[in-house]
Amino acid sequence: MDTLEAIHRRRSVRKYRPEPVPEDDLRAILNAAISAPSAGNIQPWKFYIVREHGLRRALAEAAYGQTFIEEAPVCIVVVAIPEMSAKRYGDRGWGLYCIQDTAAAVQNILLASTALGYGTCWVGAFSEDAVVRVLNLPEGERPVSMVPVGKPAESPPPRPRRRDVFVWL
Ligand SMILES: Cc1cc2nc3c(=O)[nH]c(=O)nc-3n(C[C@H](O)[C@H](O)[C@H](O)COP(=O)(O)O)c2cc1C
Repeated sequence: MDTLEAIHRRRSVRKYRPEPVPEDDLRAILNAAISAPSAGNIQPWKFYIVREHGLRRALAEAAYGQTFIEEAPVCIVVVAIPEMSAKRYGDRGWGLYCIQDTAAAVQNILLASTALGYGTCWVGAFSEDAVVRVLNLPEGERPVSMVPVGKPAESPPPRPRRRDVFVWL
């Protein structure tokens, strides 16, 4: 699948089949994640690959009961490490670059998963404190997104897009 096709085929999937994602596919998805650009190539990120069912359930609870997180066979929790970016870029690194860098990694996860036939959903609504507790994250690691990954059990239609967003000069 070429890049534009993956971009246009991707949907937020919220129903998954339970079969596990083979490790080779997971590694390809994670390799896409770390291939994202980052300010100064600092790569201020970490990825927790959560397959254990009890942990997935706890993540779903941390995400205010978004149960599809538990249903998908894997959930990738993307963590930013603001201090790494702040060392070189100060406040802009802390508050902006590390967030943009991890967002780029998330988008690569979504697109690589689509290309390999998996469904995903970018999940941002969760209690950061609860996720820190569930995964026992060390000081300085900020969970910024969760991405459940699995074979889709639904084919959602495209969601509408605003078209009045381009300013041609
Ligand atoms: C930063 C961010 C946070 C999001 N958080 C959630 C979430 O917590 N739960 C959820 O079901 N979808 C979440 N989404 C998915 C959006 O609802 C979805 O991308 C949007 O409705 C467009 O649909 P599409 O992804 O199928 O194109 C999030 C997306 C982004 C970019």
